[in-house]
Amino acid sequence: MLTTEAIVGPDTRQAMLARVHRYTGIVMAERKWTLLHGRLRRRVQELQLRSYDEYLAVLDGSKDEVARFIDLVTTNETSFFRTARVWQYLTDDFFPGWYRSNPGKTMTIWSAAASTGEEAYSLAMTAEEFRLKHRDFTYRIMATDIAQGVLDVGAAGIYRGRNAEGLKHSRQDMLEKYFECRDNAYRASSLLRGNITFRQHNLYQTLVAANRFDLVLLRNVLIYFDETGQEAVVDAVRRSMAPNSVLIIGESESLHRIRSGFAFQQPLIYRNAVPST
Ligand SMILES: C[S@@+](CC[C@H](N)C(=O)[O-])C[C@H]1O[C@@H](n2cnc3c(N)ncnc32)[C@H](O)[C@@H]1O
Repeated sequence: MLTTEAIVGPDTRQAMLARVHRYTGIVMAERKWTLLHGRLRRRVQELQLRSYDEYLAVLDGSKDEVARFIDLVTTNETSFFRTARVWQYLTDDFFPGWYRSNPGKTMTIWSAAASTGEEAYSLAMTAEEFRLKHRDFTYRIMATDIAQGVLDVGAAGIYRGRNAEGLKHSRQDMLEKYFECRDNAYRASSLLRGNITFRQHNLYQTLVAANRFDLVLLRNVLIYFDETGQEAVVDAVRRSMAPNSVLIIGESESLHRIRSGFAFQQPLIYRNAVPST
C-alpha cells in the first residue's frame, strides 16, 4: 500500500517535484505537493509500488513511464476560440495582412502547447473562413505538446462534454459547419484534420520543421515555467519563426520581464524582431 501523504518525507517530495522540472521544465513549488500527489497516487498504486521512492526508481529507468508521468503531471485545460480578442485580431488583421504580403505562399502556423487540439482546430476554422473569401489561400498547422495523451485526442479530433458544449454555445455555426455529430460526440471534419499535423515536442528544444512559422500561438504554458525557463522556451520558439512573424501568448502571460527578440505589438501579440539568421 502506498504511504499516505503525511509520511512522504521532505526529501522524497523534493525529488518528486524536481522530476517534474527535469522531465517537463514545469516549476512546482513545495506547496504543490498535494496536487502532485493527487495526480500520481493512482498510478503508483496501479504499479503496485509501496512508496514514491520505489516509483522514482521505476520512473528514472523507463521512457514509457516518463511519458505516463508527463501525461499525469501536466495541466491540459483548453477550449475552442479561447480569448475572443485573439480570434478577432487573426480574422481582421493577421490573415488579410499576411495574404496581401505573401502572394502564392502557404501560411505556416504553430499551435505550441496544443493540449487536446481545440486551439489548432480553432485556427483551422479561422483559416477556412478566410479561404471562403480567398480561394487560393493555403495553410498548414503544426500542433505540438509534450504530453502524448492529449495529442492523441487532438489527432482523433473527437470532442464531447464541456469543450464541445462551449463551442456549441459560443459558435454554433462553426460547430455545424466543421464538425459531424455522432453519439453525443463531435468529430472535426476531414477538411480541418487534413490541415493539422500533431507531433510530440518539448518546448525547451528547437522544433525542426520544413519551414519557419508565420504565426505561433504559445498560450497558457509560459506560466508554468520560471523566468529562466520562459527565456529559454521563448528563444527556442523564436528560432523556428520567420522574420517579422507573429507570436501570441496567453492572457495571464507577458514577455516584459524576460529578454526576448520580440517587439510588443498590442497586448498578447508580439512580432519577431530578429532578422533572419
Ligand atoms: C493549459 S494547456 C494550454 C493549451 C492551449 N495552448 C491553450 O491556451 O488553451 C498547457 C499545455 O502545455 C503543455 N506543456 C507543458 N510543458 C510543456 C513543455 N515543456 N513542452 C511542451 N508542452 C508543454 C501541457 O502538456 C499542456 O497541454
